[in-house]
Amino acid sequence: MASVDVPVALLGYGTVGAAVHRLLEQNAEDIERATGHRLRVVHALVRDPGKERGFAAGEGVLTTDFASILEDESVTLVAEVMGGVEPTGGYVLDLLRAGKPVVTANKQLLARRSTELFATAAEAGVQMRFEASVCAAIPVIKVLRESLVVTNVHRVLGIVNGTTNFILTRMESGAAYQDALAEAQRLGYAEADPTDDVSGADSAAKMAILASVAFGSRVELADVSYEGIDRLRPEHVEAARSLGAVVRLVGTATLVDGAVDVRVGPALVDRHHPLASVEGPFNAVMLQGDAIRELMLEGPGAGGLETASAVVADMVSVLGTTGTGFLQGDACWRSLPKLPPGELPAPYYVHIEVADRPGVLAHVAARFADEGVSIARLAQHVVNGSAALDVVTHTAPSGRVATALDAIARLPEVHGLPDALRVIDERGI
Ligand code: NAP
Ligand code: HSE
Repeated sequence: MASVDVPVALLGYGTVGAAVHRLLEQNAEDIERATGHRLRVVHALVRDPGKERGFAAGEGVLTTDFASILEDESVTLVAEVMGGVEPTGGYVLDLLRAGKPVVTANKQLLARRSTELFATAAEAGVQMRFEASVCAAIPVIKVLRESLVVTNVHRVLGIVNGTTNFILTRMESGAAYQDALAEAQRLGYAEADPTDDVSGADSAAKMAILASVAFGSRVELADVSYEGIDRLRPEHVEAARSLGAVVRLVGTATLVDGAVDVRVGPALVDRHHPLASVEGPFNAVMLQGDAIRELMLEGPGAGGLETASAVVADMVSVLGTTGTGFLQGDACWRSLPKLPPGELPAPYYVHIEVADRPGVLAHVAARFADEGVSIARLAQHVVNGSAALDVVTHTAPSGRVATALDAIARLPEVHGLPDALRVIDERGI
């Protein structure tokens, strides 16, 4: 079979871009055997062509001129691995309008502008693929769109940020938060500015993308309530241990009576739950659905080569499916309502510091009862004349729990603000 020469361009030649070039070069024969196409990187957009690169780009490949890529008619496929929302979004729209398919690893761009991007791709009749935008090496988008095409997925749970999972597992071994974060940065897991990692924004963008594909209904970053791990203290990790659980930053996307709820926050995960064993910079996505009951995909969630493997797989998929109609275009085909804030039912772990006096427990319990929140477990620790209450509730709407905690915080015997973390213990089997 004669091989088809495919000149491709990269937007970005950093950690991921250089690794994409490395994989394309080192696996050129495998790709050709599988697809009959030989992909050749002819341009890579950068800011500073003089910088040292992880894999040599080749003579004349690096450019600072986006127009030279847009106007090169021989370029039939582009991988966007530069990150950021602008000018990246404008570049991707221009490429799609020019009839060039794009694969992207950019979760922040997709979670903010997917409506416009997919509409433009559809109008131009070209594909836009995004496997690498969620959990790097884990092929979860393909599994959701292809393998689970007839499964009514109604819940997605994910540990989708490697940096925060690394920090939390280091804290379990006694490391301080700041030291663990510094180590994650040194090992290259964290973003250059790790704010998106620790604030939960990176996980929220990934959960918005996962929810959109799983439910076929658009979810954007603005629809996701999120909280990071920045307020966690060693006491939370210790309390989790004493309750037979671990603390993880968990994203959940849930269908509740046809309405969508997507959120990210630190949660207590029961030791026996599969997500509890996900350690270090690894990610995992658990899918619960009618026919499959439950399955979990786990693997490296960050890293240049790990992410590049998903980018290259998307490039190969574009070549293999162009003109077939198979798995192309926007995954969103319906518009489901968003669940009102406060209505998602879950069990909660609550930590309350109180004066060690008669009647305090009754007052706290009464505030939960006023909101119809039932208590499943309770433990008290006495420290220097004060007491700490660790409470685990039965499943209750998040808004009811929040209202009870507001009332508890106003009790004169309560010191400071109570902390609440969701408890993840339910299974789909
Ligand atoms: P990176 O190492 O910072 O590389 C970014 C590249 O884009 C660099 O080559 C940079 O040029 C170029 N670039 C950035 N802004 C530009 C601009 N305005 N004009 C021209 N070139 C520009 O980033 P990365 O880690 O490879 O990440 C790339 C994308 O992959 C991001 O969307 C990220 O979220 C996503 N991703 C990364 C990982 C990971 O583990 N790294 C995992 C999953 C997804 P210079 O080199 O000249 O500065
Ligand atoms: N900083 C991200 C993480 C990289 O730690 O998961 C992958 O998106």
